Amino acid sequence: MRKRLVIANWKMNGSLALVDEMVAGFSAASHVDVIVAPPSVYVFHLTEVAAGSFGVGLQDVSQFESGAHTGDLSAAMMAELGATAVLVGHSERRSEHGETDATVAAKGLRVLAAGMMPVICVGESLAERESGQAEAKVRAQIEAQADCLRFGGEIAIAYEPVWAIGTGKSASALEAVAMHREIRRVLQEVTAEYAQGIRILYGGSVNGENAAELFSHDEIEGVLVGGASLDTEQFAAIIRAADV
Ligand code: PGA
Repeated sequence: MRKRLVIANWKMNGSLALVDEMVAGFSAASHVDVIVAPPSVYVFHLTEVAAGSFGVGLQDVSQFESGAHTGDLSAAMMAELGATAVLVGHSERRSEHGETDATVAAKGLRVLAAGMMPVICVGESLAERESGQAEAKVRAQIEAQADCLRFGGEIAIAYEPVWAIGTGKSASALEAVAMHREIRRVLQEVTAEYAQGIRILYGGSVNGENAAELFSHDEIEGVLVGGASLDTEQFAAIIRAADV
């Protein structure tokens, strides 16, 4: 089995002190790739103090290359700071900033062109799950990323059911596994050439307690962790659980 990928998404949380605490408390695991995505203002400090012990990521990127886009940050700037991965299409970006699949695709291509890995986030709402539309929704979100998926760079897909994010109500391992299998099928249809190289992560209320159950399934090739990644001990427990 390939190395698992554990990504911390701090969202709009944390501080310089938390960056230092995280780095001091970090212990690597041999079969796990770890990436920490703090708020972008902390990335410079994090790359300095992490000194390569884990990867550094960002939570969003501009869809534009450069220019008059006040407040935005370009993929090239991120790569220059040593970032290796960028989240695109997180459900909070989609819902709070109106990001469409087309915006997400543009962002993903910028990340790839800058030599970094886009972590493309997909997932259904509670209403979509309850009306039996979950698979169709996720399929459509992935098909909309065909240009990225066929680019040939390193990519991860994060399946994050919207109803499980920040709610303390994780999808069950079996629900996650079923969707990961469906995602693998869609990837295979979109790009038989690159599908097998794409890691599929689960996200949504992952913590130190439920990580082991999730990782008992080979389909769960990593996790995207929000709230629990702000707690150094919880995050360490998740990394340990992934190290199998
Ligand atoms: P959560 O967030 O772990 O706090 O549910 C996950 C995410 O939104 O990436």
